[in-house]
Order: sequence, then structure tokens, then C-alpha cells
Amino acid sequence: MSRIQLKTPEQIIAMRQAGLVVQQGLAEMSAAVAPGVTTAEIDAVGRAVLAEAGAKSSFFGYGAEWGITPYPGVACISPNEVVVHGIPDGRVLADGDIVSIDFGAILGGWHGDAARTVAVGSTVSAETAELIAVTRKAAWTGIAALWSAAQVSDVSNAIQRYVEKQPRRYGIVRGYTGHGIGTEMHMSPDIPNHGRPGRGPRVLPGMVVCIEPMLTLGKQETVELDDDWTVVTRDSSPAAHWENTVAVLEDGLWVLTEPDGGAAELAARGVPLAGIAS
Ligand code: MF3
Ligand code: CO
Repeated sequence: MSRIQLKTPEQIIAMRQAGLVVQQGLAEMSAAVAPGVTTAEIDAVGRAVLAEAGAKSSFFGYGAEWGITPYPGVACISPNEVVVHGIPDGRVLADGDIVSIDFGAILGGWHGDAARTVAVGSTVSAETAELIAVTRKAAWTGIAALWSAAQVSDVSNAIQRYVEKQPRRYGIVRGYTGHGIGTEMHMSPDIPNHGRPGRGPRVLPGMVVCIEPMLTLGKQETVELDDDWTVVTRDSSPAAHWENTVAVLEDGLWVLTEPDGGAAELAARGVPLAGIAS
């Protein structure tokens, strides 16, 4: 198991700059989502944001070193039954679809990584809109738990408990997890979205992690397509994904990929915002 990269407050301030590029990209890509738009057109919006910011993509070319198809986009655009890692292409979004947008940026050598799921048009079903809302709140529940967590799996357990107390059953995807982030996009530790508390590495100031639950309206099982990337639900049920990059400081948290640093959602959950965030 590789060691966890702990960052100084100065390094976390540098990571915030990457996080802001990511949130800008997600905001612009989300605004571009509409019926009739292709997933490749959304990726192009992300590409322009990176160019404008002088940032590099965390995703483009990823995987080349393990001999799989290098990732060809700057964002993962995952409609409906696609859980994660949807390759941007000519797929046309339709009214009533949902789409997850996952985006990463490298600035000054530091990575940021976040994802949002949005409705396409105005006819998304109430059940599917609720899937998005629960996935978003599961992510914030995990972030809040990071503050009180002694160990990493306390976050996992908080996410699972939040999802399982909903009036409806959701599939919690097991095959993909949150992760540490810093000078690389995927670093130690992994952060599963389910599990018993009291396991895994200790949560310490200087940790920066991505918390990213993936939920489905059906079963939890997923299948990877033979393009090496696209992950779909085995039962073709719709899936949602919500992710933020979060830093742990001595005096609070800082959500690096949110415009307000997480201030509003953290306050609503009684979690302090780190002093360097304001
Ligand atoms: N952002 C994804 C994650 O949250 C990974 C993207 S895969 C890539 O872990 F190939 F596109 F980089
Ligand atoms: Co991630």
C-alpha cells in the first residue's frame, strides 16, 4: 500500500487553483447540456476552459501506461445507464435523459477532479430527479463525515447509511471508489462508498481526497464495455455520480471544487470551513 501524500496549507492553496478550473469547467459544461447536444460538444466546452485557464487535462491520455486505450476526452460524459467513464462522442442527449459530467484539471502540477449529474431538458421523471438529489446529498454526507472521521471507512459507512435510510432502494456501485488526489489524479487511499466503520488509514490534516458516490435506480452491478472505458449498469438502470475534491485542514474542511469552498453545505451540516478558505 502506497503512502498518503499529506499537503501543507500552501500546497492546498495551490490545489484550490486547480479546483477552481474544474468547477468552472463543470459549470460551463452543465450550462451547455440541452436536448440535441452531443457528448462530444460538451467535452469541447471543457477543453476550451482548460485552454483559457492554461491548465492541462487530468483525463486526456490517461491509461496509456497500462496498455489500455488512452482516454480520448478531457471529460467523462455519462448519460442514463452509463455510470462513469463515458467517452464523449456523437451520442445526442434527449429531453428526459440525465447525464453525468466528470472533469479534471492540472494546474501548477496539482490535480482537481469533480463530477456533477444534471437533467437534460424538462421531462426527467420524479424518480430520476430524486436519484440525482440523493447522490448529491450522499456525496455531501460523505464530505461532512470526513470531518468527524477517525478512519477513512467512517466516510464510506456514512455514505452507505445515508443511502440505505432512503424510502426507496438505490444500488450503491461497488466497483469504483473515491481516492486521494494531489500530484497525481488517483492516489492512496481509496474511499469506497460502502463498508464498516473503523477501517482503513487515519484521517489527518493535509489529506486531500475525492469523495464520489455512484448510485443507480436498479442494482449495483456494472459492466465495462469493450472500448476499455464505458461503464454501464448491468440492468441498464439510470445512474448518477457526484464528486468533489476535499482538503482536510487543522481547523476545518475546504471543498476545493466548489465556488464557495463548501461554505454553505458544510455550515448546514455543522462542519467548520477551514480558515484558509476565507
Ligand atoms: N474522474 C474519474 C474519477 O473520479 C476518473 C476519470 S478516468 C479518466 O476517478 F480516464 F478519464 F481519467
Ligand atoms: Co475521482
